[in-house]
Amino acid sequence: MVSLEDFCTLPGRTPVIFPSLLACDFAHLEREIRSLEEAGTRILHLDVMDGHFVPNLSIGIPIVECVRKITGLILDVHLMISDPESYILPFRKAGADALTFHVEAVMDSEVPGKNYARTGCRREDVSQLNENHPAIRKISEIITKIQKEGAAAGLSIIPPTEVEVLAHWTEMCDNVLIMSVMPGFGGQRFDDSALAKLRWLREHAPPSVLRSVDGGVNEETLESCVAAGATGLVMGTAIFKNPDRKRQMKSLMDKIS
Ligand code: DX5
Ligand code: ZN
Repeated sequence: MVSLEDFCTLPGRTPVIFPSLLACDFAHLEREIRSLEEAGTRILHLDVMDGHFVPNLSIGIPIVECVRKITGLILDVHLMISDPESYILPFRKAGADALTFHVEAVMDSEVPGKNYARTGCRREDVSQLNENHPAIRKISEIITKIQKEGAAAGLSIIPPTEVEVLAHWTEMCDNVLIMSVMPGFGGQRFDDSALAKLRWLREHAPPSVLRSVDGGVNEETLESCVAAGATGLVMGTAIFKNPDRKRQMKSLMDKIS
């Protein structure tokens, strides 16, 4: 079994690729996972969607449970759902090692009349949030809850959200996941706004916090992500488009090591 420490010490000398199963052939899930194991991956990224926080549905608890039964890889679960708190325990029980949730999802449940899932949490919104704001406190509580369950806790933000909002939690979370597309679908174009956010994180978050990026990361964009400070690279299409996973992982790694 992997431990929280395994996850937190992932970024060694080179950044780590997190293959995202969203782009795999789900009819042959075990075969797909074996191909990644053989290619030397240490972690799998699983995208969970609820058709509410994002306009799509994907992997849920039973799939995480089945994946856990057949692999010892670290399971990094990305919760693109409106109510992450209620699902910490079920996903942890299913075998998730790391749980990442969205700042905007919690903001939406704590601030009536807003739709941060669509608009993002912009500079003017961020400036009104102090430590005592219920949403800020709730996010801290969820991070602590995840860690108490023995999993690594990650926080994610969508492209329009101002990165400085993360300052409230950089000292306590294990992973920050900068979205470089609007979440919900694979195969979208990389949004350059992620690069400045990664640079901000390198400057403001403790080095032990994983700085990951998700969406449109591929041959063309991964080098700029690493140059901006990314230590975790989530990749779906860029990995699964090549049936030779070993060669693909190697050619991607060669670009950044
Ligand atoms: C998108 C998901 C991603 C997705 C990335 O909402 O969070 O993890 O799988 O896919 P690509 O790498 O194809 O952009
Ligand atoms: Zn993801």
